[in-house]
Amino acid sequence: MKDINNHKGLNSIWTESLARNLHPDSNALVDHLKIVHQEYTGFTEMCASSCRDKNGRNSYEWLAELVPNDKSLCVLDLACGSGPLLKILFDRNKNLNLKGIDMCPEELALAKTRLVNSGTSLFESKAQNLSVIHDNSIDIVLCHWALTLMDPIAPVLDEVKRVLTSQGRFAALVDGPMNAAPGYKEVHDLIYSYVQEEIPNYGEIDLGDPRVRGSESLNSLVHKAFPKSNITIETNVVSMEGPVTQIAEIAAGFFYAAFVLKPEKKKLMIKSLSNLLAIFKESTDAERQGRFSMPISRLLVVGDIK
Ligand SMILES: C[S@@+](CC[C@H](N)C(=O)[O-])C[C@H]1O[C@@H](n2cnc3c(N)ncnc32)[C@H](O)[C@@H]1O
Repeated sequence: MKDINNHKGLNSIWTESLARNLHPDSNALVDHLKIVHQEYTGFTEMCASSCRDKNGRNSYEWLAELVPNDKSLCVLDLACGSGPLLKILFDRNKNLNLKGIDMCPEELALAKTRLVNSGTSLFESKAQNLSVIHDNSIDIVLCHWALTLMDPIAPVLDEVKRVLTSQGRFAALVDGPMNAAPGYKEVHDLIYSYVQEEIPNYGEIDLGDPRVRGSESLNSLVHKAFPKSNITIETNVVSMEGPVTQIAEIAAGFFYAAFVLKPEKKKLMIKSLSNLLAIFKESTDAERQGRFSMPISRLLVVGDIK
């Protein structure tokens, strides 16, 4: 995993379009995501695996619970990144037939090293075109923190439907409603305020299809693709605590927006974020503890997939 704090600030076709007040297209989105993941490979799991819910589960474990531990099923992790979810699934049930897909070769290379001897098949491909996977061949498609980044989204859902068996299931971990986690909106707004000093319309236009970020709009989007299935969206909150600067850096590393900040501005943002996340504001910097909480949602589509 690379150091997410070795920060240069980055430019892509996507950020250049925003800077010129244009609406970036899907190629610009892919270019931007590939640059971020090439530069900061493995960054998602650093934050996602540190944050836990009140039952001690991180978001990978919460999603993995939807896969039975005692059956031999075929499971596809869509946009598997560096493979933390696949590793959890393999450790729990050696009878699973595991597959992972991602468009970023650096993330897949990291996934390959941790999944050695697991029999997992990894493919470099976009989620909009899963031609490497046969029709009706997958029992469960999982997608951890990536659906929000995909645009266009409709072909992704169509491909998920095509590869699933008729009694299969599709489950995705996505951003939860901002107000579900105490202080989350303030963290979001603080980071975006620094980013908007450099790119004013970052936020107004964001990565992916905005409909995936709202529970109602996500529900109706998914209902269009799976009209006969049962769709549920549950919300949960995960948190982490520790030395405040470390917590601020890991939390900031989870926001794609923070990657566009230049080093000096990033330092200022981390300082403000540390003040915001400090549990006891009056203690000295060296001993200050911080807490960060974030809302997550788990989408589940089951039954009558076709
Ligand atoms: C936030 S990371 C999540 C990675 C992994 N699922 C995890 O949670 O650790 C998003 C991942 O989605 C991948 N991704 C984004 N859009 C994609 C697309 N259209 N097709 C395939 N992969 C995509 C990126 O390459 C990246 O690895």
